[in-house]
Amino acid sequence: MNTTKRVYLDNAATTPLDDQVIAAMTDAMKNYGNPSASHCTGRAAKALLETSRRTIAKLINAERREIVFTSGGTEADNMAIRCAVKDLGIKSIITSPIEHKAVLETSQEMEQSGLASLHLVHVDETGTVDYAHLEELAQTNPNSLISLMHANNEIGTLLDYREVSRIAKENNCLFHSDTVQTMGHYSFDVEEFGADFLTCSAHKLNGPKGIGFLYTNKKLNIKSMITGGGQESNHRAGTENMLGIAGLTKALEIAFTNVKQEQDHIYGIKTYMMEQLAIHIPDIEFNGRTTFEDGLYTVLSCSLPPQKNNDLILFQLDIEGVCCSGGSACNSGAAKGSHVLEAINHPVDRKAIRFSFGRFTSKYDINHAVKALSKVLSQETVQA
Ligand SMILES: Cc1ncc(COP(=O)(O)O)c(C=O)c1O
Repeated sequence: MNTTKRVYLDNAATTPLDDQVIAAMTDAMKNYGNPSASHCTGRAAKALLETSRRTIAKLINAERREIVFTSGGTEADNMAIRCAVKDLGIKSIITSPIEHKAVLETSQEMEQSGLASLHLVHVDETGTVDYAHLEELAQTNPNSLISLMHANNEIGTLLDYREVSRIAKENNCLFHSDTVQTMGHYSFDVEEFGADFLTCSAHKLNGPKGIGFLYTNKKLNIKSMITGGGQESNHRAGTENMLGIAGLTKALEIAFTNVKQEQDHIYGIKTYMMEQLAIHIPDIEFNGRTTFEDGLYTVLSCSLPPQKNNDLILFQLDIEGVCCSGGSACNSGAAKGSHVLEAINHPVDRKAIRFSFGRFTSKYDINHAVKALSKVLSQETVQA
């Protein structure tokens, strides 16, 4: 029997379900009605659906009609971009080279199919947007869609969304922000954020996979990206994922109730890990921005000293019971390289490892991971 202790430090990939979320979903299972049906069983499901929408809208200071449930962050990002082009006359997209593929590939497809031109804003080696360049791009391409993520999922750097919102408004642009890594980890007020579209995915905040939502400012009249039914007020065809919606709503309620407490706990964990890593692995560096003000407190991207077998490090950490993720910048365009690390010019001879934390992460987990990483790297050095 394998008795190695397992520590889970990959919360940016996905998070464990909260027990209260499981309970809410179990409860929802008992209500099997189709919310589009007119009889009492259907009406009970519809009541749950609309109560969930109202609860979520209230948590982020939105209106009910501004929330459309989707199958998660990827679909919500797709919907924002595709509908902006299809329904709102958007002819150019301004985004960055370090966006999630849901944004980057969708934008590239819009360009390749001749529907919109694509402009990439410069980012520096920390993944920080060059706001002067953004302003220049917006001025030369008014009426664009600006799509910039609130926090980068690989390196954690945060966006100055107020500045982006200002630039967007002054140049008649729409602003979409992929908030998949931040929704529920920070307080959200859509008025204060100043974006036209925001995206959410439940499994990044201790909710279930396969459910999320798109917030769309009520002034915008988008149609459905998926056709074949009038659900979600004609904004998204297909019978709603009722269990997912119940889980998403509970996950968001818990997250927004405990934002400050979780921020303090998790940022404490992150700074502790940075201190410990600096002590035990002197040549370690950290990617992206790492303070509470400019970096996502749930993510710590480490740049390891060059090793002989960079590709084996994740595998060796897994053997030591540490679940985390990583990448490298491939200069040859190899299939597995990280486009984010390449865009920030991360050295190709250094492996990047992302540790990401959640409400269940403890200092014990960090001690275990730091010890495991030190062990793996010392073995590598001996072999080198
Ligand atoms: C920033 C970002 N956007 C979008 C997604 C996609 O979300 P989902 O897994 O719900 O499709 C992810 C998930 O990794 C993400 O980190």
